[in-house]
Amino acid sequence: MTIDREDQLDGLKRIGLIVGRTLEAMRAAAEPGMTTAELDAIAAELLEQEGARSAPRLTYNFPGDTCISVFPAIAHGIPGDEVLRAGQLVNIDVSAEKDGYFADTGASFVLHAKDAALDALCRDGKRALWTGIRAVKTGGPLNAPGIAIEEFARKNRYTLIRNLASHGVGGALHEEPGEIPTWRDMSERRRIHEGLVFTLEPFLSRGASWAVDGKDAWTLYADKPAPTVQYEHTMVATRNGPIITTLAA
Ligand code: CO
Ligand code: CO
Repeated sequence: MTIDREDQLDGLKRIGLIVGRTLEAMRAAAEPGMTTAELDAIAAELLEQEGARSAPRLTYNFPGDTCISVFPAIAHGIPGDEVLRAGQLVNIDVSAEKDGYFADTGASFVLHAKDAALDALCRDGKRALWTGIRAVKTGGPLNAPGIAIEEFARKNRYTLIRNLASHGVGGALHEEPGEIPTWRDMSERRRIHEGLVFTLEPFLSRGASWAVDGKDAWTLYADKPAPTVQYEHTMVATRNGPIITTLAA
């Protein structure tokens, strides 16, 4: 959506804070021995307390309140009876609606273990997201974040998943201006206009470039068994720079 009123920004900030805090609460609660369904139940309770509704459930009838992807799954994992183990690379993606406003956030982390290589990948996944956020300029190219993220990935010898894009959000989970590439795309000629609400969510990988279907209708896997992380924020473009709505505080 594109906003031009303060009350719209307030609505986006309210749901942004809810999904940001829900993601943080899930990450803090995640423990080896817990199932992904138990982790999802924490989100279900928090969203209900806040009067918010799970966006994937509402929009796509997704069988869960959040997407929990345990590597080798990289996105859209269904919460279920999978038991979490120390050292696993986990991605949680939380999106929800309240009062007609939507926000979308996600993060990867290593569960209860020190793993220098995976920790570095997670650190760099966050840096890739913030590299993109810093490239957001009202009036500037919509592909500017993607160009900056690709440059970051190339310099640091990572690959990007090229068929999982960022997207417009705010009045729906996925909406205008449609898919936004987080890589260099010569065909992307659109510009970022004032008030545009969208996500940035690069998938940074140690070698994979494509997400592929798995055994169920939802879960996506990397095309190679290469660790892959995703970090996502929702933002509003303004003349003074992007306002991130999905920070936890
Ligand atoms: Co998301
Ligand atoms: Co998203």
